[in-house]
Amino acid sequence: MTEVQTKALAGIREQFPVLEREMRGKPLIYLDNGATSLKPKRVIDAELGYYRTNSTNIHRGVYELSEAATEQYDSARAAVAGFVNAANPQEIIFTRGTTESINLVGYSWGRTFLEAGDEIVTTELEHHSNLVVWQEVANATGAALRFLPLRDDSSGLADGAVEATIGEKTKLVAITGMSNVTGYMPPLADIIARAHAVGAVVLVDGAQLVAHHPVDVQALDIDFLAWSGHKMCGPSGIGALYAKESLLERMPPFHYGGDMIERVWADRATYAPLPEKFEAGTPNIAGAIGMGEAVRFLESVGLDRIADHEHDLIAYTLEHARRHSDLTVYGGTGSASRGGIFSFNLGDVHSHDVGMILDSAGIAVRAGFHCAQPLMRRFGIPGTVRASYYLYNTREEIDALFTAFDRVREIFG
Ligand SMILES: Cc1ncc(COP(=O)(O)O)c(C=O)c1O
Repeated sequence: MTEVQTKALAGIREQFPVLEREMRGKPLIYLDNGATSLKPKRVIDAELGYYRTNSTNIHRGVYELSEAATEQYDSARAAVAGFVNAANPQEIIFTRGTTESINLVGYSWGRTFLEAGDEIVTTELEHHSNLVVWQEVANATGAALRFLPLRDDSSGLADGAVEATIGEKTKLVAITGMSNVTGYMPPLADIIARAHAVGAVVLVDGAQLVAHHPVDVQALDIDFLAWSGHKMCGPSGIGALYAKESLLERMPPFHYGGDMIERVWADRATYAPLPEKFEAGTPNIAGAIGMGEAVRFLESVGLDRIADHEHDLIAYTLEHARRHSDLTVYGGTGSASRGGIFSFNLGDVHSHDVGMILDSAGIAVRAGFHCAQPLMRRFGIPGTVRASYYLYNTREEIDALFTAFDRVREIFG
């Protein structure tokens, strides 16, 4: 790392107040970004600022403060739309997060447009959020679930998987943009091209992808993209669904009530235009404002730069890992097509025990099945330890992680 890069990284770290604290009496090393990211001061200030200086509801007020809140909310939507290069802000629906965004598509698009004889194609790499929803939709509609075959070591899609599985019966491909267990990034462009060639639409679970890599929904021709604010330096309880306008126009609302209507009679109603049609009730105004600020923050750093930094960290990690014969690394040992996620087990020590020893060294990781039980079943294990990186992590923190493994070996050796 050059001196300039080191200074820039220090400048980024300074913006995250939680990085100043200790855990178990040691300087905090936060490697649980796959679960949620830390929040920079400017995002915290934006969210608190709304409560401190405004706090009013949007859309309904005919007074200055409510108009200002509405402007801030709309400007957050525009920022989020620009972040993924949506053609217009109406294609962004604010939700509670990835899980709700996928449910919206399942309940609204899935239950309306799928029927017996249709196929939903997904993978065994998925987070439960992008699997259980489709199991339910399949049960409700009679559509069948099919899985893109994986390589024997589950490190990615098997050769020829896309052509062999996505066919005339496929109506939806629901696939992760980046596995939250292994960091694997499927070849989205190929998958989308194949799906569109057979007339299917594609939902990308962007929970792990969008925060870490530049995503251009128009260039990739993505139909639905779901992601969460809290994994991209934004608040929890807010997320987004991007969907092509032509799809949203044809879909029925997901939730019903105030704000999503145009006119209401005692026995019927008509619905508001996009995006309100999909945002019933008072939304998470402060959360949306915070998510908008998170977007501005990430853009000020640069998504390409963030992706390069994390690629450096994962390559550095895998190089380290090769020197430890008692480490099992999941998802293959190469850093190509892979984000900054390192899933492993150390000898035959249970992942929770490793996690607890790392905790005592001030290192926060996740241990368990990571909401991906089918993948754990494929690996034949109950869980892994997962270290997941973000823009503020350093090579020194990875050195500390590997040093802490010695403590695990001492205790369990
Ligand atoms: C790949 C993936 N999909 C979906 C989710 C669900 O996100 P949320 O809990 O924010 O709805 C997660 C969260 O870890 C994830 O990693």
